[in-house]
Amino acid sequence: MQRRDLLRLAAGFAGASLLPRSRALAEAPAAEGPVVATLSEGEFPKGFLWGSATAAYQVEGAWNVDGRGESIWDRFAHTPGKVKNDANGDLACDSYHRYREDIALMRRLGMKTSRFSIAWPRVQPSGRGAANEKGLDYYKRVTDSLLKANIRPFPTLYHWDLPQALEDAGGWPNRDTASRFADYAQIVVDALGDRIGQWSIFNEPKTFTHVGYWEGTHAPGRTDPLAMLRATHTVNLAQGMAFRVLKTARAKPEIGSAFDVAPMNPASDSDADKAAALRYYKFLNLWFLDPALSGRYPDGVLPPSQAADLLGLRDGDDALMRAPFDFVGINYYSPWIVRDAPEGNGVPGLNTMADWAAGPDEKADNGWDIYPRGFYEILKDISTHIGALPIEITENGAAYNVMPDEHGHVHDRKRIVWLQKHLAELSRAIRDGVPVRAYHCWSLLDNFEWAEGYTQRFGLVYVDFKNRQQRTVKDSGKWYAKVIAANRVI
Ligand code: FCB
Repeated sequence: MQRRDLLRLAAGFAGASLLPRSRALAEAPAAEGPVVATLSEGEFPKGFLWGSATAAYQVEGAWNVDGRGESIWDRFAHTPGKVKNDANGDLACDSYHRYREDIALMRRLGMKTSRFSIAWPRVQPSGRGAANEKGLDYYKRVTDSLLKANIRPFPTLYHWDLPQALEDAGGWPNRDTASRFADYAQIVVDALGDRIGQWSIFNEPKTFTHVGYWEGTHAPGRTDPLAMLRATHTVNLAQGMAFRVLKTARAKPEIGSAFDVAPMNPASDSDADKAAALRYYKFLNLWFLDPALSGRYPDGVLPPSQAADLLGLRDGDDALMRAPFDFVGINYYSPWIVRDAPEGNGVPGLNTMADWAAGPDEKADNGWDIYPRGFYEILKDISTHIGALPIEITENGAAYNVMPDEHGHVHDRKRIVWLQKHLAELSRAIRDGVPVRAYHCWSLLDNFEWAEGYTQRFGLVYVDFKNRQQRTVKDSGKWYAKVIAANRVI
């Protein structure tokens, strides 16, 4: 089963500063919006930030080096039968040792922002207690090398690698994990807080709670919808708590999270399917956004009389969940097709069945529907919902498993076309007033694609997993460098 089966755009806008914003800048009045109407088709605003994204477990390797603790993904991938071909992230792209080469590649391609994640078990091996200085040193080296290359370091605190010891203590369904996460955030901010201007707290909270605790096809592999609901609430508490910790950083950073959002298309014209699509929209797209921005869960998903019990809500949680973001991160891949399921799906009141590889559209190599217009649609929707908050595209990309030809070149034409279509929709959204200020392509490198192991290649750069993780820039990487240089889709 596939997972998920079930700018201010003014020239030189403040958020695009490569270095942490100074106090003076943070207090300066926000620049007035740009004249986006003057942008031509496919063009991006001046100062738009182009870059790529990676995640610790997917690229770093060095899983047991320099005091790193075990994560739920180590445990899961080391369990036979969980990941395709029993692959794991023990070595991955070996970026722990080759980060300088990766940064040189980004620089060569002209990137100005690098989204990466920090591995909690590298920093705090058992998820509690003292910091592992060697782990922190690694992220200091990465950050400083990026700054030296004039690339903005843009870390995510959590991209799915919970310390296994915390899972053993109950994992995300256990409310205490939120306090552990806040402690971890404090350690990270004490070490890096002077040099980071923008932080992202979570990556795709919907995916790691749903797929990890409900579908069970991601770590930690549980299949308990009620545990999943509890997990969503702990994550919302953790998000608010970490927000306040990060805000104490010396650099006065801007804080957001990266949410995977998508249009929810009803499977038919029936009122029941339309209502199901709306419930699913709230449960997938807004479940971690509304508690942050307003302290409240969206209505109309869980039965009102049961919601507090199901989530484990306590008095005062609305204030704890609040995280008045400075920007919102958006990951976009595919739309969902949703139908009403009166038979239920384990989540009281939700009654939906959904798939995002079910449409009539063309598919990428991993089976995900290709629907570029959905990028525009969801950006318009979310932007209307969150008001004037700046948006960063934190992930967008496609799996095409093209291998090198006899000369070692990777002609991944289909990825170029995929990106062209999505960037055209992004440009259209910006011209129509959606304040997007940055774009991170997923991904810089082919890497460990979770339950798919190494079978799905999303990279702009090919990685030869059989030959010392050698890197080769694909045609799409060369094309992306030209897009960055021109600041327009070509
Ligand atoms: C996203 C994940 C990212 C990567 C892409 C393909 O959902 O955040 O780590 O796996 O999908």
